Amino acid sequence: MRDLQADCLLHLEADNPLMPLEMRDVHLALNGKPVLRAVDLSLEGAGCSVIMGPNGAGKSVLLKTIHGLMPVDAGQICWGGLPVAQVTRAQAMVFQTPVLLRRSAEANIAFVLKARGKSKRLAQSYLDRVGLSDMARQPARRLSGGQQQRLAIARALATDPQVLLLDEPTASLDPASVLMIEEILRDVRAQGVRIILVTHDIGQARRMADDVVFLNAGQVVEHSPANRFFQRPQNLAAQDYLDGRIIL
Ligand SMILES: Nc1ncnc2c1ncn2[C@@H]1O[C@H](COP(=O)(O)OP(=O)(O)O)[C@@H](O)[C@H]1O
Ligand SMILES: [Mg+2]
Repeated sequence: MRDLQADCLLHLEADNPLMPLEMRDVHLALNGKPVLRAVDLSLEGAGCSVIMGPNGAGKSVLLKTIHGLMPVDAGQICWGGLPVAQVTRAQAMVFQTPVLLRRSAEANIAFVLKARGKSKRLAQSYLDRVGLSDMARQPARRLSGGQQQRLAIARALATDPQVLLLDEPTASLDPASVLMIEEILRDVRAQGVRIILVTHDIGQARRMADDVVFLNAGQVVEHSPANRFFQRPQNLAAQDYLDGRIIL
């Protein structure tokens, strides 16, 4: 068998030392049920990869494993040549429902800055970045859903991640909030942060994706550049999904 770590090291990328992400033959069962099955995935360079697939396909579990939040039963997950367990602090994750501290918006950011040994005075600049400048003193939990998610993104950015992982971050938001968050993510991507986004929203995937990973029943059945995927997916289940024939 090939030495995975040595193999990863051959492909190190200059602009983001965490890339590429290499998953090789990853298996994971939960409660005796296979959830990830022989997952092979390579994500290179910069940009935004979108992970799509039917409900229960394993998207959330996949994202957790590549963030090092869930150990796998077999296979390798390697970031920039290093096993995932060694690099979790270089990635940040945003979930569908943000869990915020019962404090002001600013204090939520300051908490993370302090934990990372950074000045709490930087909090305002992260709020500015997500359009929440005027909300600094508001209790975080009284913000609207869209504002809370923007705060969660600001909090993730306050850790200076090289990779930002997002699991359906706009699933329960109104259209204006969705577009605002996409604008923030485009800006984050332009600054060189690698984005990996799980979404059910096909319109969002078209607007955001540089490449699409399609997951079905725990397997990566297609990984294509976005324009090729949306013009003509190679996989039948992906075609059915885009045509609305798979009920979510
Ligand atoms: N913590 C867990 N314990 C047991 N089974 C789980 C757990 N998390 C997810 N699963 C199962 O793994 C499968 C994939 O789940 P998930 O990754 O959440 O799907 P998706 O995000 O694609 O909708 C589902 O069958 C789900 O029931
Ligand atoms: Mg999910």
